[in-house]
Amino acid sequence: MRRIKHFVSITDLTKKEINLVLQISSSLKRQLKKKGSNKDYLKNKVLGMIFEKPSLRTRVSFEAGMTQMGGHAIYLAPGDIDLGKREPVKDVSQVLSRMVDIIMARTFLHTTIEELAKYSSVPVINALSEQEHPCQILADLLTIKEKKGKLKGIKLAFVGDGENNVTHSLALASAIFGMDFRVATPPGFEMQSIILEKAKAIASKSGGLIIETDKPEEAVKGVDIVYTDTWVSMGDESEKDKRIKAFKGYQVNTRLMNFAKKDAIFMHDMPAYRGYEVSEEVIEGKQSIIINQAENRLHVQKGLICFLLRTTINTS
Ligand code: NVA
Repeated sequence: MRRIKHFVSITDLTKKEINLVLQISSSLKRQLKKKGSNKDYLKNKVLGMIFEKPSLRTRVSFEAGMTQMGGHAIYLAPGDIDLGKREPVKDVSQVLSRMVDIIMARTFLHTTIEELAKYSSVPVINALSEQEHPCQILADLLTIKEKKGKLKGIKLAFVGDGENNVTHSLALASAIFGMDFRVATPPGFEMQSIILEKAKAIASKSGGLIIETDKPEEAVKGVDIVYTDTWVSMGDESEKDKRIKAFKGYQVNTRLMNFAKKDAIFMHDMPAYRGYEVSEEVIEGKQSIIINQAENRLHVQKGLICFLLRTTINTS
């Protein structure tokens, strides 16, 4: 029997595997746009969805994706399971994986998803933890490929919260694909050192660059992509006032965008808070591609599920 493959970190897939997922995703996207539906690639397959936090894009894209491919998704709201409180993660994982074909989880602790994966007999997908958001980054990679035609050599600046799930997965993915990743954060909000070291080690082999600075202008100078995320992630609410103060000067606005290349694009994983991490003018402006990014969540997660379940699809 082949080993089960989980998707807890973006680094759980090799560059070749990510490229395959993107290829499957593009075909499914094309097919959906052309024919209005996908073949029943996942007929009778069931996805179990565990949520400890709120969600718009994640829940809808996973659920719609399963339906479009002839399968089914079961939504388990935070109060339904009370993961780790009503019963141990280990028990939830073992029981659920006897009943469904694949599991996705959005949790506070990253270790919760690791534990789910450890005891599961079916693939487990990280749909956001405090440490990583790899599904978002798959969507971002597809969006960058569509807009810029390539990944290698692309210069991307992330401005804002460095110790953030999106920043972490983005840095790791940039390293895998030999991109030039610059992160501008205020002191005290840098990327976790374990992720930074890992990203640097991967980048040293792929030809990528990982640069940290506390100066947004320095990070954004000459880049192809400017990316930001909320200053107050789910779970950080008690630090809201402190964070808003610390991140002053780190807003992506027209003045900052002018340091990037003329044809630079603006990306955000959403939900976006206008007037904080991004100005109204930039998010609504011509360079903003955030809605395409959000749509691609649907397509890449379908590709990812097909890949993890080893479903053969015609990618021509
Ligand atoms: N960093 C954000 C991402 C939301 C999709 C959060 O964790 O709340």
